[in-house]
Amino acid sequence: MTEHLWWQTGIVYQIYPRSFMDSNGDGTGDLQGIISRLDYLHWLGVNAIWLSPIFPSPMADFGYDVADYVDIAPIFGTLADFDQLLHAAHERGLKIMLDLVPNHSSDEHPWFVESRSSRNNAKRDWYIWRDPGPAGGPPNNWQSFFGGDAWTFDPATGQYYLHLFDTKQPDLNWRNPAVRDAIYAAMRFWLDRGVDGFRVDVIWLLIKDEQYRDNPMNPAWKPGDPPHSRQEQVYMADLPEVHDIVREMRSLLDQYHERVLIGEIYLPVPRLMLYYGTNRDEAHLPFNFQLILLPWDAQVVREAVDTYEAALPTGAWPNWVLGNHDQPRIASRVGLDQARVAQMMLLTLRGTPTCYYGDEIGMQNVPIPLELIHDPQGKDDPAHSRDPERTPMQWDASANAGFTSGQPWLPVADNYTTVNVVAQREDATSMLALFRHLIELRHTMPALSIGAHQSVDSRNDHVFAYVREHAPQRVLIVLNFSADKQDLDLSSTSVTGRLLCTTYMDSDDTLNLGYLTLRPNEGMIIAI
Ligand code: NOJ
Repeated sequence: MTEHLWWQTGIVYQIYPRSFMDSNGDGTGDLQGIISRLDYLHWLGVNAIWLSPIFPSPMADFGYDVADYVDIAPIFGTLADFDQLLHAAHERGLKIMLDLVPNHSSDEHPWFVESRSSRNNAKRDWYIWRDPGPAGGPPNNWQSFFGGDAWTFDPATGQYYLHLFDTKQPDLNWRNPAVRDAIYAAMRFWLDRGVDGFRVDVIWLLIKDEQYRDNPMNPAWKPGDPPHSRQEQVYMADLPEVHDIVREMRSLLDQYHERVLIGEIYLPVPRLMLYYGTNRDEAHLPFNFQLILLPWDAQVVREAVDTYEAALPTGAWPNWVLGNHDQPRIASRVGLDQARVAQMMLLTLRGTPTCYYGDEIGMQNVPIPLELIHDPQGKDDPAHSRDPERTPMQWDASANAGFTSGQPWLPVADNYTTVNVVAQREDATSMLALFRHLIELRHTMPALSIGAHQSVDSRNDHVFAYVREHAPQRVLIVLNFSADKQDLDLSSTSVTGRLLCTTYMDSDDTLNLGYLTLRPNEGMIIAI
């Protein structure tokens, strides 16, 4: 496996720092808390931690509104704590990736404070300022991802500034070379300290139309869809020039040893693939969110996997994501039993898996009463609040699930007395036991970590089956997406096989693949 790099064979674990572990009783997670849980992550077997933003911030969007790109928010700790975390992680063989948020800063960042101070300020052009439209009002029809106009009027200077997210998140002007240099300097600051890479926030949005033309309306929009998708974002997203920036970021990273660039990109597969770069010189991993976005159906998923595999450019490494801090938790979306099947798939597909803290114990969305909503997106549109998937990690059955000795910033799930790490560590059939076993198999079997992928015709609409192969090793994965038992004949793949893992975590057997029965919601990994 030596010719593969750590971000290819490794498993990425996303930590939402506010919610992982609180060390000082203020109800919000912090860096010392994470340090205290590194042994758990090492035991679990994940290889790289991606931290959602930990930089100074007014927290209008919980850190995705950065007020200083080169320091740590006091609520999370200090630079010394960060260095300690990095060191302690590296000692355990764990990589640390930071969240870079280059599209926008906080309106409280000194750059924006200067920029808004007058039309002639040297930093005026660091952000996107426009005169009102011809009839008064915003310069164009662009809508913010959080709802409402993407423009806010600033009476002091009589112009509007652009913010694709909250009004407190003004967009930086990436057409200005000084902005690029400033963010690249921040990247160097962290790389020099030893961070192993970045997950870059909304990387496909960095460049906007130079003429600021109106977006066309989206004919496919239907009630219930997010308000921002009423428009097709042709003039504010995925513009050709954005690739120059991704290439620049990549060449900066390439000056260091084995650092990784992961791009957050919500685009259809053909567009997504372009972010690998014509010469594989852009993102190492443009995030692939299909498992989050597609209906949970064996045939739909099979089709998506095959299409994605076929679309990958030569030399591009695949990746799969099952959850993050912006999306409903997998165990709520597909149910607890199917969540096991989903984890088996995530950890056996070809490509780097990214998992979200708490999914390994089957944490579910926690309903948050309206008056407790923190998320700016949820305040505008409670149905799309992201708080439910950001609740405190459930460590044990003690008060507040062992997350804090204080008042947690978001409520802890009611089920924490049974759904927690300690309880599941003691239960050989738990989700956690399954998750850890899957990781162990992935790490010990080259077929699973680096082998080729080939979908298999299961001749059953409810079952997705595929073979992972790295000669001489061959492994068959069979996933029942339904809550009914399914009978299969897979003898054309192999006559017999040895069961390595079932989502039920209860048996190991030699199987006759001509008469294979999958129990409801069962997934199997079979050596053939
Ligand atoms: C994507 C991040 O994942 C999300 O949490 C954030 O609100 C937006 N970008 C804006 O930074």
